Amino acid sequence: MAIDYQERIPNNVDLGSNRTLQRALEHWQPEFLKWWQGMGPTDFQASDVYLRTATSVDAKGWATYGHVRMPEYRWGIFLADQDPNRKIGFGDEYGKDVWQQVPGEYRSVLRRLIVTQGDTEPASVEQQRLLGHSAPSLYDLRNLFQVNVEEGRHLWAMVYLLHGYFGRDGREEAEQLLGRHSGSIDNPRILSTFNEPISDWLSFFMFTYFTDRDGKFQLKSLAESSFDPLARTCQFMLTEEAHHMFVGETGIGRVVKRTLEVMREIGSDDPDAVRKMGAIDLPTVQRYLNFWFSSSLDLFGADSSSNAASYFANGIKGRPDEAQYEDHLAESQTYELEIPDGKGGVAVESLPMRNAMNEVTRQAYVRDCEVGITRWNRTIAKAGFSFALQLPSTRFRRSIGSWAGTPTDPAGTPISAEAFEAGRTQWLPTEADRAYVQSLMQPVTEVGKMAGWIAPPDRGINSQPVPYEYVRLA
Ligand SMILES: [Fe+2]
Ligand SMILES: [Fe+2]
Repeated sequence: MAIDYQERIPNNVDLGSNRTLQRALEHWQPEFLKWWQGMGPTDFQASDVYLRTATSVDAKGWATYGHVRMPEYRWGIFLADQDPNRKIGFGDEYGKDVWQQVPGEYRSVLRRLIVTQGDTEPASVEQQRLLGHSAPSLYDLRNLFQVNVEEGRHLWAMVYLLHGYFGRDGREEAEQLLGRHSGSIDNPRILSTFNEPISDWLSFFMFTYFTDRDGKFQLKSLAESSFDPLARTCQFMLTEEAHHMFVGETGIGRVVKRTLEVMREIGSDDPDAVRKMGAIDLPTVQRYLNFWFSSSLDLFGADSSSNAASYFANGIKGRPDEAQYEDHLAESQTYELEIPDGKGGVAVESLPMRNAMNEVTRQAYVRDCEVGITRWNRTIAKAGFSFALQLPSTRFRRSIGSWAGTPTDPAGTPISAEAFEAGRTQWLPTEADRAYVQSLMQPVTEVGKMAGWIAPPDRGINSQPVPYEYVRLA
């Protein structure tokens, strides 16, 4: 039976004429659908969801909107258009032709990077699988599912690379991407942030703001890779990733907006009084922010890293927006890294720049995180309150890098373990915070209605009004 690959699996990789790839994907696709049914969003599989589907990479086709059932979503394979003159943009091979095939000596390193990136995509779908039952509106429910199907597509994007360029071991890795599960004791996801449960919508918005943004910076680094198919895959993924961070930024913004309305109404910023009105007090928002920001920082890896240095030297993984740097070799520069001095203070270590590439990327990420904070704080100030949300120091609550195991306060000042424990309830979500937020998680499924803890969005999706049946519940 002839299968129309363009119809079933929209793609721009000429799948129709690549028999090897077809065979690999024909075997993998039913496994993916089984995984989606078993580990993807619970229920709602028969509901029609107003989703964006990529059917090509051009301006017209990459965002096609319509109501579809999620299992019928067309997960496609897309790479940004090839630039035939593209050269290696950094490292020891700077200026040479990029690679269209995987060089033998970098095979296992590239496979590992692709698998690690690929693993996060289905992991987040698993983390979020129960959230549909407590969505604050149909608009939000639709956004959740949009993020979920696109993370599914990102998995496809990585599986395409594994199948297309890594032969048998690539196929085995692709299978294991469906075998590991978020939070599993026996077979967890690779990175720890992706094993944290996401059982409430405040966490979901924090995750899409902070953790999807980590994804953005990983993709930006990989979009610089000399392995051209990887670079082009990641470039296209970035277009979708932008919506996930939009969901996070506007989601947190709407929570803050609703809280401010309540604060004005009752003329008080007292957290208990705010909670009595069914909104989320700003100190709780800050504690969730501290948790997800610090957890996401660890995803960039150790601040001093010989792996990062060799990825850069070999042209495997660059800096985000490599073109903005003047010196693409970064051979003789140094990076001044602040580390604990072991006596309760801070020392400065001078690192070869190439060893500091994880930290360079992390700092670019931190600057990007500030944008939303500034915007939310403007809303708070406009409402006439003096509270300001803040990113904690990158030293705070770290599990990876020089600051792992050194307790600090959110400002980054080293403190004793006892002082950290004493401060914990002020700085990080408590059981009571989580229970309160959880108590708000009641589904709202009436067209145009919002839960009481969140303000409506300023506008709908794809020029639809906010009151629109974004999900037709089955
Ligand atoms: Fe993704
Ligand atoms: Fe994402």
